[in-house]
Amino acid sequence: MLYNLSFLAAILALARNAAADPSSTTTNPATPTAAPLLDLPPFSGTFSIAYPPSDKIPPTDTPQVQKWLAELDLTDVPDWPLVPFTEDGDPKNPKVIPEEACDWTETGCFNKDVTTCPLGVWGLTYDDGPTEFSPQLYDFLDKTEQKATLFYIGSNVVENWQAARRACGAGHHIAVHTWSHPPSTSLTNEQFIAEVKYTEMAIKEVCGFTTTYFRPPYGDIDNRIRSLLWKMGYTSVIWDYDTDDWMMAPGGQRTEAQVDQAFDQWIAAAPQDKAGHIILEHELYQNTVNAAIKNLPRVQATWKTMSVSACTNNSHPYQEKNITLATMDGAKTGIDLDNGNSSTPTTGAGGSQPTSSGQDQGKNSDEVKSAAFLSVGLLSKEVAALVVMSATIAIAVI
Ligand SMILES: *[C@@H]1O[C@H](CO)[C@@H](O)[C@H](O)[C@H]1NC(C)=O
Ligand SMILES: *[C@@H]1O[C@H](CO)[C@@H](O)[C@H](O)[C@H]1NC(C)=O
Ligand SMILES: *[C@@H]1O[C@H](CO)[C@@H](O)[C@H](O)[C@H]1NC(C)=O
Ligand SMILES: [Zn+2]
Repeated sequence: MLYNLSFLAAILALARNAAADPSSTTTNPATPTAAPLLDLPPFSGTFSIAYPPSDKIPPTDTPQVQKWLAELDLTDVPDWPLVPFTEDGDPKNPKVIPEEACDWTETGCFNKDVTTCPLGVWGLTYDDGPTEFSPQLYDFLDKTEQKATLFYIGSNVVENWQAARRACGAGHHIAVHTWSHPPSTSLTNEQFIAEVKYTEMAIKEVCGFTTTYFRPPYGDIDNRIRSLLWKMGYTSVIWDYDTDDWMMAPGGQRTEAQVDQAFDQWIAAAPQDKAGHIILEHELYQNTVNAAIKNLPRVQATWKTMSVSACTNNSHPYQEKNITLATMDGAKTGIDLDNGNSSTPTTGAGGSQPTSSGQDQGKNSDEVKSAAFLSVGLLSKEVAALVVMSATIAIAVI
């Protein structure tokens, strides 16, 4: 029933788009191509506090940081020596760390990190934004109806807040990548908390919601850092495919052809895949954005592409539970009209049919909500595409 309605909604929306003026679909990079899906609270560009200097580890002796620290009990956080790092973020080898640190870059150890998506799914992640190049990427994602997880650097959010706000409104999954991009295990507990919380605060000011996902710069994470993240309510996200596109920096050691070849190999290996993937790319430079845009169509032809929150079936990846992001189990992007009193399931396999009368109740209210989305005109082409996609996945799973 739910999916029947979804199909109807999708067909209605597609019909509406088909009837629209064809000139509206012509490519014009200067024009934003999609209306926002999330109705964000107003933000004028005036931040409530003076943020710490850009791209530097924030001082921890400020009242703001002391307030955050006072809210956390750090007594059981492991007390291991800080790991020294070189200028370009590499640890001074060998890292002298205890076995129980479960340090990913040193030993490949995971601990409750999100590392991959389900078979057939390609989790899109772009790090280090927002930058001046981001709008080109966001235009392309809008045009091709794809959502990504964007791991933002707090300093960049303050600097390029318009780009951040646009991505938030488009229903991309926004997440934290520190304030100044240091290697996490080189930081004190207090410095790491300040790096995360200032970034979280900047995103909250610009977009109105509170992030709960984190990616460590350089993939540098161990159990001390994880314990701090869990205390702050964060899930860590690593990757299994790395484009190494950051080395395409002007004067860098990686060419566009080499990045293309990485995609060639992954696509050639796709038939042997045992799981899906989470791919590491960057919004950093013109050429990294170019490489992303150039290779996305063939990725999209090979896998279902989606954000990390979508591929882990988490429809509520922000602290504000009245915000729903699209998932593969059929959740649709939007802000609930009932102020978070939602019966929408946050997890669950696509296509699972509730049987008890209690669950039917929930299903009905989902249908009512879908109707509400339609009637208030929130069901854009993007939502329709996601609905079609999730229905397709549901059928495949069944
Ligand atoms: C969503 O919930 C938050 C609290 O988590 C609340 O401040 C906000 O007003 C709600 N938004 C809407 C549109 O109901
Ligand atoms: C949610 O619904 C319950 C029961 O209908 C009500 O008591 C509660 O106040 C509601 N919460 C919000 C945030 O609207
Ligand atoms: C999400 O749902 C899909 C089916 O739609 C299922 O295969 C997958 O295991 C689920 N993922 C998680 C992390 O629960
Ligand atoms: Zn990074």
